[in-house]
Amino acid sequence: MTEIAISPLSNACGAEISGVDLTKPISAGIAAEINQAWLDHCVIVFRGQKLADIDQVNFAEAFGPVGDYLRPNTLRSGAMKERHRAVMFVSNIVENGEPIGTLPDGEMMFHTDTGYDQNPHKATTLYAVEIPTHGGNTIFSNQYKVYDELPERLKTLLKGRNAHHAYEFGVMIKKKEKYDGPEMRTAVHPIFRNHSETGKPAVYVNELMTESIEGLANDESRAILDEIFAMQKEDRFCYEHVWQKGDLVMWDNRCTLHARTDFPRDQRRLLRRVTIEDAPPAWAA
Ligand SMILES: [Fe+2]
Repeated sequence: MTEIAISPLSNACGAEISGVDLTKPISAGIAAEINQAWLDHCVIVFRGQKLADIDQVNFAEAFGPVGDYLRPNTLRSGAMKERHRAVMFVSNIVENGEPIGTLPDGEMMFHTDTGYDQNPHKATTLYAVEIPTHGGNTIFSNQYKVYDELPERLKTLLKGRNAHHAYEFGVMIKKKEKYDGPEMRTAVHPIFRNHSETGKPAVYVNELMTESIEGLANDESRAILDEIFAMQKEDRFCYEHVWQKGDLVMWDNRCTLHARTDFPRDQRRLLRRVTIEDAPPAWAA
């Protein structure tokens, strides 16, 4: 009988799970324990794993159908087209003159994966294949806690309201007010979104992909979003994950945001991403 251990990593979110080898099939009982730890801590970390693409896909499938990598075909290199439909590489590595992955260098603003889709993927698994000597950390922000600490004025004003989300594939730092490129995806989501498993409300806006609040004047919408974005960055809501080779991290896109810190451009970085689909959306807080 396998025994897993769960150790919290911060006051904000995150727990390390030890005692499991993810190259082997996990039983329904262990999958249920892992799922509960994930719901409780929002981000779970397994260290020292040695995972091939298919191991990571198999692990993800224990928690739901794996999500297709949504990048448009016109924006894929040859190497990207050859992989399993669910596998995306986050990497700055270039082979044969072509990038093997996407989101190559530098910082990345807080966001939630596939939030530009009307039914975003509930989970992301990310596995560290190659990492730089320093930097490239992933910061997770707990949006249950941001919701709980939001000023009553904002809870009242924003209750029942939606926000508009948009994204142009490949953008890491948003420098313009609104996206307007040809390969743009958009969606509308409640600002306070009830989690599809825990039922708890979480803030569902983010700096990289949320453009405006429905029904408010532009200035007011901008000011409120900026106030929330500043709160989401506060240390008390965040856990910063320093990657080691062999880490497999699974986070909950329904109740966390994540951002990336800068790292040296002359060092190789490769992480493998597989997402998991959500049940159809159940609105709203
Ligand atoms: Fe992401």
